[in-house]
Amino acid sequence: MNSLQASRTPEPCIFVIFGATGDLTARKLMPALYNLAREGLLPAHFACVGFARRDKDNEIFRKEMLEAVNQYSRVKPVDPTLWDSFSQHLFYHRSAFDKDEGYASLKTLLKDLDTRFGTQGNRLFYLSVPPSHILEIVPRLSQNELVYPSDHPKWSRVIVEKPFGNDFDSAVALQKELRQYLSEDQIYRIDHYLGKETVQNLLYFRFSNPIFEYLWNNHHIDHVQITVAEEIGIGTRGRLWEGSGMLRDIVQNHMMQLLSLLCMEAPVNLSAHAIHDEKVKVLEAIRPIEKDQAVRGQYGAGIVNGKDVDGYREEPDVNPQSQVETYAALELYIDSWRWAGVPFFLRAGKRLPKRATEIAIFFKKAPGNLLGEEVASNVLVIRIQPNEGISLKMNCKVPATNNLVPVKMDFKYGSYFGSTPPEAYERLICDCMAGDSTLFARDDEVLTSWKLLTPVLERWAQAKVDFPNYPSGTWGPAEGDALLESTGREWRLL
Ligand code: BG6
Repeated sequence: MNSLQASRTPEPCIFVIFGATGDLTARKLMPALYNLAREGLLPAHFACVGFARRDKDNEIFRKEMLEAVNQYSRVKPVDPTLWDSFSQHLFYHRSAFDKDEGYASLKTLLKDLDTRFGTQGNRLFYLSVPPSHILEIVPRLSQNELVYPSDHPKWSRVIVEKPFGNDFDSAVALQKELRQYLSEDQIYRIDHYLGKETVQNLLYFRFSNPIFEYLWNNHHIDHVQITVAEEIGIGTRGRLWEGSGMLRDIVQNHMMQLLSLLCMEAPVNLSAHAIHDEKVKVLEAIRPIEKDQAVRGQYGAGIVNGKDVDGYREEPDVNPQSQVETYAALELYIDSWRWAGVPFFLRAGKRLPKRATEIAIFFKKAPGNLLGEEVASNVLVIRIQPNEGISLKMNCKVPATNNLVPVKMDFKYGSYFGSTPPEAYERLICDCMAGDSTLFARDDEVLTSWKLLTPVLERWAQAKVDFPNYPSGTWGPAEGDALLESTGREWRLL
């Protein structure tokens, strides 16, 4: 057992979900709780309260949650006996987020549940709400003594969904406000990418395999490509997306997390602080992004998976002249001894030809003087999802000829480990119940990332683009390709 596993013992608590009638609760949170119960990972003393505005009672809430788990759980069908006992721990509390009475009655309910379920007064509040509601909720939790001082024998923790702020200034302001009511160790900024097995493996892979770690620097690496490609469009999230865009939705959080784990130095130990310290150093060392190092795109109509799909501007709740990007690509440089001069190309897009998140590390080519110019780079590809795994491209002589071909060694999680890995939310909820913030973002990580990207957002806000500039079902705008071509490189074919 390693030190990460050893620290994970979820403690008795009540899990309160603000925004319990929303999409995230149905798709991710409730299936995660059910699967934790199935695996015996929920604390024995546990209850869950859904807090939302809509009118319903416990029975209706439980019925809806059963439907959600039946639809979205990674393990189906739902076990009826397990559901019967699990659902007895689910409760619904009706209130608007800005109504003081709703918090006083919540306090009474939680006390009652403490007595019934032995939850010892511990509270985990999950804010699955748009950012504008966070500061309606947290002050009221504090005024009603639903959150405790951090040195109190009972604990209270608050999980805040992304985006944490909308840019650097708003993130600083939000952080300042939250700190009036909570200490940093009570704030858990969730980035669900950190709960993915393949993302957690980045640290384990790097620091347990010296053959790669010795090459993990600018002497041996030519460049790195990080891709987050999705086939899906914006769908029903038009209103939300109009206020965010790809740089805020994926790059500022998920991709910066991938980049910092990939590039950080070895931490002195596996404590949350030691790991966060090293990640922040990477983010701080990224050079300010020049105008021609950031590209944006927006999908037009096109064909994805053989089906005709609308352009972004035709999606519901989207401004028909919208300037919001659904694709972003960046060229970044990390000014550290390890990484100086190595370009990092990042791209994220909706309505691309396939779903694929991966990190591709292109090693420097062998000199062409012995074997000819055709020698390809060794490429190490870490497939975050789907088809999770790691492959290494090497060159090999074709038998009975003098030709070289690239061949691949390929490790696949599915065939090697068999079972479906836990969903990211399972791991993260479990860690929060255990008080382990390693896989959550610390304040300075989030702020440093905003500091880097806010100038790009500001530049983009000032200059209009002729959108749409890529048809759905293609790999993004021509400018995205040009970003690499101008350096003599090209995107890996996925
Ligand atoms: C979310 C983004 O954080 O991550 C979505 O807001 C995106 O736009 C989603 O689709 C992707 O998550 P996953 O786990 O399916 O890769």
